[in-house]
Amino acid sequence: MSNALQRDLERLVVRVEREDGPRAAADPYRPRFHLMPPVGWMNDPNGLCRFGEWYHVFYQYGPFDPTGGVKHWGHYRSRDLLHWEQLPPMLYPDQPWDIHGVYSGSALVEDGTMYLYYTGNVKYAGDYDYITAGRGHNTALAVSHDGVTVASNELLLENKDYPENVTCHVRDPKVWAQDGKYYMVLGARTKEDRGQLLVYESANKRNWKHINTLTTPEVFGYMWECPDLFCLDGQWFLMCSPQGVTRQGNKYQNVYSCGYFPLHGDFRGAYTLGEYQELDCGFDFYAPQTFVDGERRLLIGWMGMPDADYTNPTVENGWQHGMTVPCELKRDSEKLLRVPAPEMEALRGERIAPEQAQIFDLEAQTAPRGRLVIRGAAVLEWDEGTLSLTLVQGGSGRTVRYAEPGTVRSLRVLADASSLEIFVNGGEQVLTTRYYPAPHACGVQSEGVQAELWAMGALQIQ
Ligand code: FRU
Repeated sequence: MSNALQRDLERLVVRVEREDGPRAAADPYRPRFHLMPPVGWMNDPNGLCRFGEWYHVFYQYGPFDPTGGVKHWGHYRSRDLLHWEQLPPMLYPDQPWDIHGVYSGSALVEDGTMYLYYTGNVKYAGDYDYITAGRGHNTALAVSHDGVTVASNELLLENKDYPENVTCHVRDPKVWAQDGKYYMVLGARTKEDRGQLLVYESANKRNWKHINTLTTPEVFGYMWECPDLFCLDGQWFLMCSPQGVTRQGNKYQNVYSCGYFPLHGDFRGAYTLGEYQELDCGFDFYAPQTFVDGERRLLIGWMGMPDADYTNPTVENGWQHGMTVPCELKRDSEKLLRVPAPEMEALRGERIAPEQAQIFDLEAQTAPRGRLVIRGAAVLEWDEGTLSLTLVQGGSGRTVRYAEPGTVRSLRVLADASSLEIFVNGGEQVLTTRYYPAPHACGVQSEGVQAELWAMGALQIQ
């Protein structure tokens, strides 16, 4: 199934990747063990799934503009999370309902077929605020039988089908099967600027009925982007990326937040949401998505932050942003622990001395008070239950972020060429950030730390 616009876009993407790809690939800040766009811009992970023997990672891809541009669904797949194949974009903005961007969504895998639910973005020309008028946010379904090409694409819901009290901002469907039915959550902004999730039910994957709305008793932000709703080890969690949550002390330090509520009761009927927890306290983490892989639930997030006042020098080389490493989620009562998928350990090379460290994996037992200085650029300090991450060099506008983990007992740091993922106390708290140390800067200095370090190898991407 393709049309003339899609064929032209396909050719343009191939050309821009061929022409601009080498410059992006030669950037000293290009990550070694993270997924990033071949050229241009990347944001949210989309359609994460296990399809037969393959893991599929789709993502918001702006191939023509490293600062954004019209969104496609970029595509990688892998059998082991280590060797990746870059495939042509799965979805192009080529239908009347997605002409200004194939926005975020998710995958449902059933009977050897991949169902990709996404938001088609349409921006009408005119004098609109694009919140209450002028924007179409359409829920659409693309079906694939081979996981590589799209067999059909259809419009399922338009703005007129959503509840009366919501604005045009209704997007990012997350779909799953349960109890012989299908469920979908959509993030929404109401006309009173309240963030909420719309819950839909379907018997056939195509006709959807609004059956419930999930929100907090007090307004918590004006829009909940990229929702996810899942049960882990007997506890339900509602995950989302709320916009418009104002900073309170060391909480909600970024322009937009990203976290979860434990959900009690039934998302289809009577429910309550427990205390909101932030998923990450660093500068660059947003719009994560989870998926089931056998017995485990994996999560990948976007290593970026929309509308932030800091930036990334990689734009000069024609690309921007990346994904986090895949992580496993574990339940600790009403909280989630997040740890790197064990597969990442296969990338560990030789043990190295701290002064040699550049691209590395560090595991440490820590004293209650201590400090790590990474490549002269990032300073991690902890004492009396508070941990700070200060970018003293190469922050491109990033300054300091805080976490409150209680006593710091252990740290794991995954340091790539231009990113840090810092897992505190077995994933109770995580800080994810991009950073840009001088390319040859090396070494980790520490106090209050018993560390083991490994040089990290690279993902193989073909
Ligand atoms: C989150 C988001 C989504 C939207 C997509 C567009 O980063 O704004 O809500 O679908 O990005 O790229």
